Amino acid sequence: MSTTIQLDEIRAAVRDYYGERAAASSSCCGPESGDGCGCSTSNPFHNAKLLAEIPEDIAGFTLGCGDAVSLAQLQPGEVAIDLGSGGGLECFIAAKQVGPTGRAIGVDMTPEMLGKAWSNAARLKVENVEFRKGYLEALPVEDGAADVIMSNCVINLSPDKPQVFREMFRVLKPGGRVAVSDIVANGELSDEIKRNMELWGGCYAGALDVHDYAAGLAAAGFVDVAVQPKRDAADGIAALAGKVFSAAITARKPA
Ligand SMILES: C[S@@+](CC[C@H](N)C(=O)[O-])C[C@H]1O[C@@H](n2cnc3c(N)ncnc32)[C@H](O)[C@@H]1O
Repeated sequence: MSTTIQLDEIRAAVRDYYGERAAASSSCCGPESGDGCGCSTSNPFHNAKLLAEIPEDIAGFTLGCGDAVSLAQLQPGEVAIDLGSGGGLECFIAAKQVGPTGRAIGVDMTPEMLGKAWSNAARLKVENVEFRKGYLEALPVEDGAADVIMSNCVINLSPDKPQVFREMFRVLKPGGRVAVSDIVANGELSDEIKRNMELWGGCYAGALDVHDYAAGLAAAGFVDVAVQPKRDAADGIAALAGKVFSAAITARKPA
């Protein structure tokens, strides 16, 4: 199988997987294996204060594996880009935090997700938010446009992570920061798992070894790279050998 076909095949499988979830409105990311990214009907990741004033169905539609928007520590006036914005929830929280002088821009490749995000934005009457169609590997964003890149449970889904890291570096302003929640692996996953397209959609098969993740960000030019397993994952890390878990990832583009 050539690399190009594999890349296209993974993208198509992931797009179908999330197209179906957007249409079904179910919150379900990841294998139900205790990786912190399982199916749910409510939102287990964001503090209730962040979700105040957001209708229950929008607040409950998370396919993430953590709280990237809180990790981002957004300030008024900042521009935040959300990679793989899904139904838009973290963009709506970000838009409120950056205020009218700032902007939240979501990027997603799945038309059904973009449709859902735009319709949610209209319901919420949020004006400083937009959703752009595109790939993480070729972001539809100009150079140096963002103060912050955030992303919740998406980079693991990319078949070309070094290119995603380069794009993140390109679109950040000097001194800009990265705040990512993602699924990573303790060790390399088997070829059998990596070839399983259903497991790609489920935020499993694409999980990068935790050390390779940090090295990939550094190779793209980032500094102060930190990959912090979630507390529950860290506690059980010995039992997770060869398995996946969620982590909070931060980094900075040099000023
Ligand atoms: C697991 S969901 C997470 C959605 C959202 N971040 C959340 O927390 O609810 C992954 C999202 O990323 C999008 N996605 C996956 N791979 C992508 C890629 N290579 N380029 C652009 N979007 C991608 C999918 O369409 C889907 O909406």
